[in-house]
Amino acid sequence: MESKHDRLPSFEEHASRLAATNLRALVQDEARGERLRRRMGPILLDASRQKLDIAALDAVGEYIESTGWKAARDAMFEGKHINTSEDRAVLHTALRGGASRNPAAPADVRKEVADALDKMETLVNAVHKGEGESVGLIGRVTDVVNIGIGGSDLGPRLAVHALEQFHVDGINSHFLTNVDGQAATDLMKKLDPARTLVILVSKSFNTQETLLNGGVFRNWILKAEGGDEAKASKHFIAVSSNDEAVHKWGASQVLPMWDYVGGRYSLWSAVGASIAFAIGMKGFRDLLAGAAEADDHFRSAEWKDNLPVLLAIAEIWNRNILGTTSRAVIPYVDALVDLPSYLQQLEMESLGKHVHPSDGSEVKQASVPVVWGSIGTNAQHAYFQALHQGTDIVPLEFIGLVKPAHPLRENQDVLTSNLLAQAAALSLGKTYEEALAEAKTGTEEERHALAAQRTFKGDRPSTVFMLDSLTPHSLGALIALYEHKVFLLGHLWGINAFDQWGVELGKTIAKQIYPSLANDKDAGDLSQFDGATRALIQAIRSRR
Ligand code: F6P
Repeated sequence: MESKHDRLPSFEEHASRLAATNLRALVQDEARGERLRRRMGPILLDASRQKLDIAALDAVGEYIESTGWKAARDAMFEGKHINTSEDRAVLHTALRGGASRNPAAPADVRKEVADALDKMETLVNAVHKGEGESVGLIGRVTDVVNIGIGGSDLGPRLAVHALEQFHVDGINSHFLTNVDGQAATDLMKKLDPARTLVILVSKSFNTQETLLNGGVFRNWILKAEGGDEAKASKHFIAVSSNDEAVHKWGASQVLPMWDYVGGRYSLWSAVGASIAFAIGMKGFRDLLAGAAEADDHFRSAEWKDNLPVLLAIAEIWNRNILGTTSRAVIPYVDALVDLPSYLQQLEMESLGKHVHPSDGSEVKQASVPVVWGSIGTNAQHAYFQALHQGTDIVPLEFIGLVKPAHPLRENQDVLTSNLLAQAAALSLGKTYEEALAEAKTGTEEERHALAAQRTFKGDRPSTVFMLDSLTPHSLGALIALYEHKVFLLGHLWGINAFDQWGVELGKTIAKQIYPSLANDKDAGDLSQFDGATRALIQAIRSRR
C-alpha cells in the first residue's frame, strides 16, 4: 500500500501565521500544551515546544488521516508485501513474541517466531546455568561476543548497554563490529578463548566485515582448542537467514532470521541473542512486551493521541515546512549513549530515498534529515553553542528519566534540570532588550555589541521524552515508537522504508579495490579505477 504521490500540502496559511509568532508566545497556550503532551504506558511525549499551534496541528493531522495511513499500517501488520522492491512482507512487529493484545501476523509466522524464541531460551538458560554442553555449546561461558554490523550490531548494542542494570552475573558482553583489525586484536587480548562464546550475526551471511571478523575469532579459538574443529564450533552460534552459508561456515548452533525482517528492525529476533544472554530471557521477553505495547498503541489510538503520529507531524513540520536539514537526539541518560547511532540507521537507512517505488518518479519533497546527537549534559559543553546561536535551526529530541536506577538523587536532579533548561532556553531564547538590560556598563555602542552577542533568538523546536524508568519494557516501547514513526514517514513521503539499495554500490567497489591493496607484489590493473582512487591506492602502496 502506498501513499499518494502528491507533494505534501504546503500548509501555507498555517506556516505564514506561525512565521509571525514564536515559541515564547506559543508555549503560553495551555490548551495547546495539553494537546501536544501525550502518554503511552511508561513514556511521556512532550511535543509542546514544536512550532505548531492547534490549527496547524489539526491541519497536518487531518491531512494524514486523508492519506489512508491506517490501511497502510494494517497491511504492514498483516504481512502484505509492502517492501515492493524486494517483494517482501515487513513483519518485525510479529517478532514481539505474541505479546500483542491482538496479533495480526499470519499464524505460520507467529509459530516460527515462537519456536525461535523457545530455541533461544533453551540456549540462554543452559549457558546461564553453566551447562552449555547440554545444548552443544561450551560448558562455562564468561564472555559473549556479538560479531555483526549495522542492524546486526546497533540494536543489540543499544539494548545491552542500556540495560546494564539488568545484566545477569558472570557474563560479560562485547561487540565487535568494524573490520578495523585493531578492534579484534584489542578484544582478543582481554578474553580467554576457552570461555568465550561468539554470536555471529548476519542476516545475509554475506557481509564482508562480519565474516572476516568471524574468521579471525574462529582461528583464535581453533588455536586455543588445539586445532579441534568440532570443539571450536561449540563456541559459535550463528544468527542468519542464509542456512546454507552458515552450515558451510560451521557454527554449532544456528538461530533463524527471516526475509520479512530488515536488519535495522531485527533486534527483537534472535539477532538480539546477545541481549538475552546479557539480561536473561525474561528480560528479553519484557523488551518484546514493551514493543508490543507500542504496536497496540499505534494500531488503536486515534491520531491525536498516537505518539508515532505526533512524532511524524513534528518531523514533517520541521523538515518539509520549516526546511530544517538535521535533527539531534540527546539522551540525558548515559545508558542510552548508543541511541543516536541506532536511530541513524533506523531512520537514515529506512528513509534515505528519493524515488517512489511504484513508478520510480522523484519524490517531490525532502525526505529524511540527518540524524545525529550524543548524550547530555556533555553535548551542552561541546556543540550546543551552535544550536543556541548558530545560523542553522536544528530540531532536538531530549530523552530523560524520571526514576534512575542509581541512588544519587542530586546527580539526577541536576541532570534533569539541565534537560528541561535546554528545552526552555532553545525555545524561549533571550531578547535583545533583555540582553541590553544586563549590559550595564560601557558606551552605548559597547552595550549594543555586547547585547547583540548575548541575544538568543530562541524559537528553536524540541521534543522531550520522559521515561518513567529505563527497563526492558520502556526501552522496547521507545524503540518501537520510533519504528512506527519511520513507517508513517515512509508512507507520507511515498518511499519504501524497508529496502537499502543505496549501500550496495560502495560494497561492490570495495571488493574491486581490495586485490589492489592485498597483493604486495602486483597492484593489478589500476586503470579500472577513477583517477582519485588510483592515486590513493598508489600513495598507500608507496608508503608501506
Ligand atoms: O549494508 C547495509 C546492511 O545490509 C544493513 O541493512 C544491515 O543491517 C547490515 O548491512 C548487516 O547485514 P547482515 O546482517 O546481512 O550482515
